[in-house]
Amino acid sequence: MDIRNKQIFTLLVGIVLFSACYYDKKDQIYPQVTMTTCDTTNITYGVTVTNILTANCTSCHGTTTANLSGGGILLNSYAAVKPYVTNGKLINSILQNGQASAMPKNGTKLDVCTINKMVLWVNKGALNN
Ligand code: HEC
Repeated sequence: MDIRNKQIFTLLVGIVLFSACYYDKKDQIYPQVTMTTCDTTNITYGVTVTNILTANCTSCHGTTTANLSGGGILLNSYAAVKPYVTNGKLINSILQNGQASAMPKNGTKLDVCTINKMVLWVNKGALNN
């Protein structure tokens, strides 16, 4: 081997050795994203929807509050909620899309998972289940 070939050979060996030692840390390449899962199985009026309305809406739309702070609108039973499903106001209000008054009034918009559950319940026929 002449001197030039020796240099090239050394360089190639160097590259091979260097890349062989290169070490990827899995956690750095694929950082673990903490996904909060949205459980949209078994959505029912009796549990899912009632819980959402109780937590976010009946403070104004309940029996004792509707006339004082809920614009006279009750959302405390299936029969009371159903007309607002039919006229689209229930979903439009929580989507805050300008098609109904934005709800919860003066409050923070419901999180995406909660909104999805309500939309799914309506899309599956708004059953009294
Ligand atoms: C702080 C009190 C308050 C809370 C909490 C609240 N609302 Fe209301 N809501 C009102 C008032 C007052 C009205 C009537 C005046 C208006 O439309 O803004 C109303 C109106 C509505 C209407 C009729 C909207 C329209 O455009 O005709 C719907 C539907 C409704 N609310 C759904 C909800 C839902 C669903 C929640 C919970 C996610 C909720 N509201 C939470 C006070 C509240």
